Amino acid sequence: MLRNLARFTGYNLRLKGLPVVAYNYSTTSGAAKKPKVFQEVSDASEETHTGQFIDKVVKPYTVTTYARPNLVLTHGKGSYIYDLENRKYIDFTAGIAVTCLGHSNEGVTEILKDQSEKLIHCSNLYYNLPAGELASKLIHKTKEHNGMHDASRVFLCNSGTEANEAALKFARKYGKSKGGDPKVEFITFANSFHGRSMGALSVTPNPKYQAPFAPLIGGVQAAEPNNIESVEKLISSEKTCGVIIEPIQGEGGVNLIDEAFLVKLRALCNKHDALLIYDEIQCGLGRSGKLWAHSHLSQEAHPDIVTMAKALGNGFPIGATMITEKVESALSVGDHGTTYGGNPLGARIGSFVVDEITKEPFLHNINEKSEKFVTKLNEIAKAHPDKILKVKGKGLLLGLQFAENVDINKIVEKCRENGLLIITAGMNTIRFVPALNIPDQAIDEGLAILEHCIEQ
Ligand SMILES: Cc1ncc(COP(=O)(O)O)c(C=O)c1O
Repeated sequence: MLRNLARFTGYNLRLKGLPVVAYNYSTTSGAAKKPKVFQEVSDASEETHTGQFIDKVVKPYTVTTYARPNLVLTHGKGSYIYDLENRKYIDFTAGIAVTCLGHSNEGVTEILKDQSEKLIHCSNLYYNLPAGELASKLIHKTKEHNGMHDASRVFLCNSGTEANEAALKFARKYGKSKGGDPKVEFITFANSFHGRSMGALSVTPNPKYQAPFAPLIGGVQAAEPNNIESVEKLISSEKTCGVIIEPIQGEGGVNLIDEAFLVKLRALCNKHDALLIYDEIQCGLGRSGKLWAHSHLSQEAHPDIVTMAKALGNGFPIGATMITEKVESALSVGDHGTTYGGNPLGARIGSFVVDEITKEPFLHNINEKSEKFVTKLNEIAKAHPDKILKVKGKGLLLGLQFAENVDINKIVEKCRENGLLIITAGMNTIRFVPALNIPDQAIDEGLAILEHCIEQ
């Protein structure tokens, strides 16, 4: 039986000296299995199919830019994900805040099937129906959900980094149109993350990411979040074209930015005619409990540009840059472009995701799930005051900040061995970004594993 079931995403995993891997794709039989709560199982060893696959097939041929555990994920359903050894994990990572509707969402699968039989790609030389529909939907839904009140147009692309690249280019074009060649500089913030391309990296002031690739784009200075004086010192009408900030910092440590600060930041941008860019790539599209993290804010704190990606495709690569008419007025045909951006397949999935997120009671439920998480995380924090400093975040972008002497990577590893996937963020923080529709049972089970592993 083992011999004949060999299948691994099209590979026949016949590795020397090993029986052919028996891999069962059926999610139903996997889902019926109980998670291995408190049954510690180490990551797959070198002798397993996982170990052999990684050592013989992956590592020799893959660029070494990631440090990964011996884990090969094969399929998922909702908030559960399975590996090549057929182990089941509760997924609190959602592919880093991406699979907001859960793995193998039926609606997404249906669109993938249907649209791929109609039209996957046709380039931006022509219009297509789903791209137009997604752009107009984003504008209307944003306004309905107390987002950017003067949102007007959308540029579709393929990732968060690209959405930020477009935002930076649009801000430069705007700056030049207003103040000529000197008005091209940006202000960013400590602990922010905006991507790894040269432009996005230039506004990501983390020496670990930046130093190996210097020199970066000039004219970028980093201010302190929640410290308006630090921005006042850097901003100028002559030179600043844009200010970029995450309304909730994700990678940097799940840090909330104060509304009062953002209102003052907006006023400063107005005073100096600089564009305010909100990077909502991680915190947007329902993650904060509203459509946008800035939907929680008054209009006085609304931005000129919002960037989004991650959740928009539920795993299908898509990004978008939403702008006001003021920004649009500085743009001309030919200023920016993309081959794949706005392809009918991605755009149709994006449209579906936006519909699902904004369908009541989806957002309401996110807030209930958030409360459940926060209540339990506070209990865990209270029980371990020597290890845990605080619970932070909003909606289902939550963090548990640990004392400096706690090795959070060990906790992540222990959780994995007990059937829970979690990730870290800056400031020694464990980050929780599960699917936005994660079932209550998965929250309970996952947090029980977390508690158990912290105690150890
Ligand atoms: C806030 C933020 N901006 C930008 C990015 C980059 O997005 P991508 O990895 O899709 O290029 C990320 C990714 O983690 C992010 O969290």
